Amino acid sequence: MCGIVGYIGEKDAYPILIKGLHRLEYRGYDSAGVALLTDHHLNVYKCKGKVSKLEEHVHNKDISGTVGIAHTRWATHGEPNDINAHPHFSQSGKIAIIHNGIIENYLSIKKELKNRNYIFKSDTDTEVLAHLIEDIKNNENVSLAEAVRIALNQVIGAYGLVVISKDDPDEIIAARKGSPLVLGIGEKEFFVASDATPIVGYTKNVVYLADEEFAVLRRDGTFTIKTIKDQITTPYIEELEMNLEALEKGGFPHFMLKEIYEQPRSIRDSMRGRMSVNKPMVRLGGITEYENKFLNAQRIIIIACGTSWHAGLVGEYLFEDLARIPVEVEYASEFRYRNPVINENDVVIAISQSGETADTLAAIDLAKSKGATIIGICNVVGSSIPRATHAGAYTHAGPEIGVASTKAFTAQITMLTLMALQIAQAKGTVTKSKFQELLQELENIPGKIEKVLEKNEEIKALAEIFKDSRNFLYLGRGYTFPVALEGALKLKEISYIHAEGYPAAEMKHGPIALIDENMPVVVIATHGGSYEKVVSNIQEVKARKGNIIAVVSEGDTQVRDLANYVIEVPETDEHLAPILSVVPLQLLSYHIAVMRGCNVDQPRNLAKSVTVE
Ligand code: G6P
Repeated sequence: MCGIVGYIGEKDAYPILIKGLHRLEYRGYDSAGVALLTDHHLNVYKCKGKVSKLEEHVHNKDISGTVGIAHTRWATHGEPNDINAHPHFSQSGKIAIIHNGIIENYLSIKKELKNRNYIFKSDTDTEVLAHLIEDIKNNENVSLAEAVRIALNQVIGAYGLVVISKDDPDEIIAARKGSPLVLGIGEKEFFVASDATPIVGYTKNVVYLADEEFAVLRRDGTFTIKTIKDQITTPYIEELEMNLEALEKGGFPHFMLKEIYEQPRSIRDSMRGRMSVNKPMVRLGGITEYENKFLNAQRIIIIACGTSWHAGLVGEYLFEDLARIPVEVEYASEFRYRNPVINENDVVIAISQSGETADTLAAIDLAKSKGATIIGICNVVGSSIPRATHAGAYTHAGPEIGVASTKAFTAQITMLTLMALQIAQAKGTVTKSKFQELLQELENIPGKIEKVLEKNEEIKALAEIFKDSRNFLYLGRGYTFPVALEGALKLKEISYIHAEGYPAAEMKHGPIALIDENMPVVVIATHGGSYEKVVSNIQEVKARKGNIIAVVSEGDTQVRDLANYVIEVPETDEHLAPILSVVPLQLLSYHIAVMRGCNVDQPRNLAKSVTVE
């Protein structure tokens, strides 16, 4: 969480930094700030609120300077206010720092610095670093870079940070441990950011800092990367594959809507080159080398958080059904603290859109230390999780900017389907005809999603009817149970309406008590093995006068007779039902949130990349 951007070069830093902050705002948006270095001054402006507030705040102020750092915050230590906003200063006001992550031992360092008469203005852990760096620089008479390095050897915790100093106007220092940082290498200019989005459009050459590395970026166009143990490392310059278009709304009012509409493309992109219906075959290059691990695995453990965890649940059904391997799906945050039984016969699949989720990363480290094979399914190329795994496959959903995940979810399920099919074929647990049939249907899915998107106006009309409801219940069964969870999560996240997802049959063990004529119940009742059972569950809701909105397969009549409202989706194989049936639920949440005046792309208290545990 928190977005970091820095610049040093010949251009004015401010416009580059603000543009970068807007791109990073999905990482946190409770306060923002910028520090600019001119020949004589270090100007820092910061305030509570979004980046647009910061822009108002700097109006008529001196925003000159060709070196600068900027930050958009998601509060961990200290409430979101002007003072706790980054950048933070050192005691003399000469050093400014921005930081993402948590310094776990900040209280003990703070106490020591206070004893030495350092005065703290904020409640943050970051300010401790600013003072500590200054203290070391003065007392040990070392360079800024060396002071940062020594300081980082004293801290416990996670950081992505950038430091500038009035006394060293020709360099910026960037360091990473646990919180991502990307360096953009331009012509006599450097960029540094939490992800590559602020760099796109300026340079295609990037270096991803590794943990415990720090970079000194100099105005003369030279740079050095070292470990905090003082070893020089050779930078690996990669070419960035991201275009500007992907980072803009392209005529849509919100990123979320754009991303919902991108799903036919993002699924096609995720499948491209990895399967053929005619052959028929599936080949995920990344995992082929590890196929035997899957074939000999005693079980698969899927670890993830949030929406990615819901995709993992679909993965459980797919792998058990097709590849006949037992699967457990775990919240990464629970798994990592539970002393789980895991060994070298286990295959762990870690799913993450951002590739940076702290709990998922920690769970990977734990499983790896016990000898398990770790396979990643991530969207952000070059992010931390793909680097921590043994192998994996990227979803090619493109940058997802709306905080509520949509296209990443369907791309993750697409990858899990391909993976399960590849293993099932190798294991001989799927017939040739079923294998081919599923590949054919997978290829049809993007076209079918386009059909669902045509229902947008119909779904918007439903949103109008239900926008003032205070609670929602979502029910699904089998493959569509995770879709019920995901539908409820989408509504909660962006419209702040309380919603619960439940397995349809479990409803009678509790939630049924909530049902009356005021309770909208969204039921995913598409054709498949559990269809008749779900129809019975709908009867139970109807008997209690619940207001039923059903997602049904095209041409369905049975549920239509029972439900108050229906949304039809094209018929598909049960294995692929989640990909299709989640789309109307994404649209329903989107429209309800817009009608309620909520900030769809940046819902309160949430962040897209959760880099703290
Ligand atoms: C946050 C985001 C969710 C996401 C979850 C897991 O809560 O708001 O949209 O599903 O983190 O993130 P990951 O990047 O690991 O998929």
